[in-house]
Amino acid sequence: MTKRLVNRMMAVCIAFVMIIPSSSAKEGMWIPYLIGQLNADDMASMGMEISAQDIYDVNQSSLKDAIVHFGGGCTAELISSKGLLLTNHHCGYGQIQSHSSLENNYLQNGFWAMNGKEELTNPGLTASIVKYMNDVTNEVLSGVIATMDKEQRAAKIRENVEKILADNEGEYELEVKPFAYGNQYILIAKEVFKDVRLVGAPPSSIGKYGADTDNWMWPRHTGDFSIFRVYAGTDNKPAEYSEANVPYTPAQHLKVNLMGAKPNEFTMIYGFPGSTNEYLPSNEIAFIINEYDPARIAVRESLLETLDKKMRESDATRIQYASKYARISNAWKKWIGEVKGMKTTKAVERKQKLEREFTEAINKNDDWKSQYADVLPELMKLYDDRKPLMMQRYMFLETMYYGNELMRHLYGYRKLVSLYEEDNTEALETEAAKKAESLAGFYKNYDSELDEKAMKALLPVYLNAVSTEGASELLLKLKAMDEVTLNKYVTNLYAKSMVIADPEKWSASLKDNPKKAIKTLLKSDAYQLASASWTNFIDVINPQTSAYEVKIEELQARYMMGLKEVFPQRPFYPDANSTLRVAYGKVEGYKPMDGVQYGSHTYLDGVIEKYIPGDYEFDLPEKLIQLYKTKDYGIYAEGDKMPVCFIASNHTTGGNSGSPALNGRGELIGLNFDRTWEGTMSDYNYDVSLCRNIMVDIRYVLFIVDKFADAGYLVEEMDLITELPKEEAAAEEVAP
Ligand code: ARG
Ligand code: GLU
Repeated sequence: MTKRLVNRMMAVCIAFVMIIPSSSAKEGMWIPYLIGQLNADDMASMGMEISAQDIYDVNQSSLKDAIVHFGGGCTAELISSKGLLLTNHHCGYGQIQSHSSLENNYLQNGFWAMNGKEELTNPGLTASIVKYMNDVTNEVLSGVIATMDKEQRAAKIRENVEKILADNEGEYELEVKPFAYGNQYILIAKEVFKDVRLVGAPPSSIGKYGADTDNWMWPRHTGDFSIFRVYAGTDNKPAEYSEANVPYTPAQHLKVNLMGAKPNEFTMIYGFPGSTNEYLPSNEIAFIINEYDPARIAVRESLLETLDKKMRESDATRIQYASKYARISNAWKKWIGEVKGMKTTKAVERKQKLEREFTEAINKNDDWKSQYADVLPELMKLYDDRKPLMMQRYMFLETMYYGNELMRHLYGYRKLVSLYEEDNTEALETEAAKKAESLAGFYKNYDSELDEKAMKALLPVYLNAVSTEGASELLLKLKAMDEVTLNKYVTNLYAKSMVIADPEKWSASLKDNPKKAIKTLLKSDAYQLASASWTNFIDVINPQTSAYEVKIEELQARYMMGLKEVFPQRPFYPDANSTLRVAYGKVEGYKPMDGVQYGSHTYLDGVIEKYIPGDYEFDLPEKLIQLYKTKDYGIYAEGDKMPVCFIASNHTTGGNSGSPALNGRGELIGLNFDRTWEGTMSDYNYDVSLCRNIMVDIRYVLFIVDKFADAGYLVEEMDLITELPKEEAAAEEVAP
């Protein structure tokens, strides 16, 4: 990197902050503390009534104090002064499941604590609240000079980051995060609460209504919510679980608005989106559409088919595999929508057009030309060259990692094997005992017959993808086998695997004689295949992918910098990276295809229309049907109807699950939990005509809590808004 480039990086970083998007920007996930400079006017023009400081402020309380990173993967929000926390059912699923047994099946029947004593603890679950975010780009890049090579540069950055962390050490947990491929660095301080208790969850027939069939789909009728409570020490600071802990008093909690949101009304989503890739060049987008997604879809299709067959035959297998099936089918279905959406919105052509405009613009300006002329061609070449490697990588992950449980389980013995090889008896004994303890969790939801079938379907796919270059002797031997021989090999591998042959015996031998256990394990076909495939991934595929990543990252950073410089009027926002962001848009339906127009709201009538008694996806609790028949909706009704879900044009992604949907006054009107299928390509190519996020209406949530579960005491904790603001009410009255 040239010196000029480093200087320019600094200049553009600063310019980052000053670019004002001109048009109404529904696309984007914006950094909260920059909203005042970047988005506030746009948001106001769309109907936001509060200020940027109301959204994010470090000097006084603001909405940000109510937004929680839930367990690192989802979002949640504080909705009472007593630490009451709202998130999705699918975000609390693991906790609800862990408290469930055959006698107390909370997944099936729901769970409601009727007072604080009945709440359930969840070891390991955290709730983090951002205290402040500071731009530290200059500090991180300080002393990074042109003559440095990549390693020196990375080392200098690491050193600077260490210093920043040390300088800011105090009561909060700190982290320095790169944004926009390292064009910008932000220091984030957060309070991490560790005592988070389960308060309530509806039965899956409400919280997961429609399950996999309705997943990613609109119109939707799922009450995807669960309720927790954050506890703190008596000083209101994070504390490990203790009976002496008290409900946390947040600096701010959300007000709950029961008036709903009409089409075209302003909404925003405040949360922790996980990851997007909005600045990829056209060739990589084409690879995703034509190669990566289809290959991954095909593997999962074959796996899901195998699972489905057995799950239909056996109740036991269905219970064991429900959660695994949901996980595998979630991405599978998303990718299908993604490919479709990229094709309908002509994502490749769109990126090509941008690339042409960029190239034309830089060619007219000598300064830009010298800075950026190499960027796109080099970046695209890197993506071209990386393609075969990516296919290998994806195929390993899909077939042997996500696709095979025995292999994945065996990858977890690496530590034991290395202790055995080091002849470290003491540590081996401790670790083996731990492993033996943990085995029950694996066996509980494992069906080896099914796993063997999956292996027979997927091993040939894996072997076909593995490159002969760098492949071990075993992999080469298997690659050369014909179908029948390979099938026999798998049958034999499963038949002789001691890990699955007799769980009790295997546990006992790990505890009693770990040396002998590992020695026999090492000789097994199963472990040898696990070892060969894992080693190939770690020693052959990974180093090559990392080498590409370093180069790609640098060029992506320069490409984004160039785009910003060349098109200062266009909105550029950093890709999602699991940090706090705000997305905003409007409540609106969409046209999924020619001749079809979707509305923006669904109602309980639609839930009842989908009802299939006894079905595992569309069954309903009797009580809900009764409430529907008697129209017993309390204060939560809209006229004589019960609202259930709605959609809006907020730019969201995975991780935004559980995020609050706020109205123009910053009041809670819904709970984000999904996107529409036609719009899942928004991770690469947001298109306002098709991309919608899906939310549960907060009135449905409270109706279920109050009328269905009789846990109205929870609603009493909340600050409810049950009337329109005076001006709006007056306007409605005079309206014809
Ligand atoms: N599609 C939503 C998300 O990505 C919900 C997933 C959970 N639901 C399910 N049926 N798998 O995460
Ligand atoms: N269900 C997703 C999540 O768990 C949100 C849906 C999406 O990807 O937008 O975060």
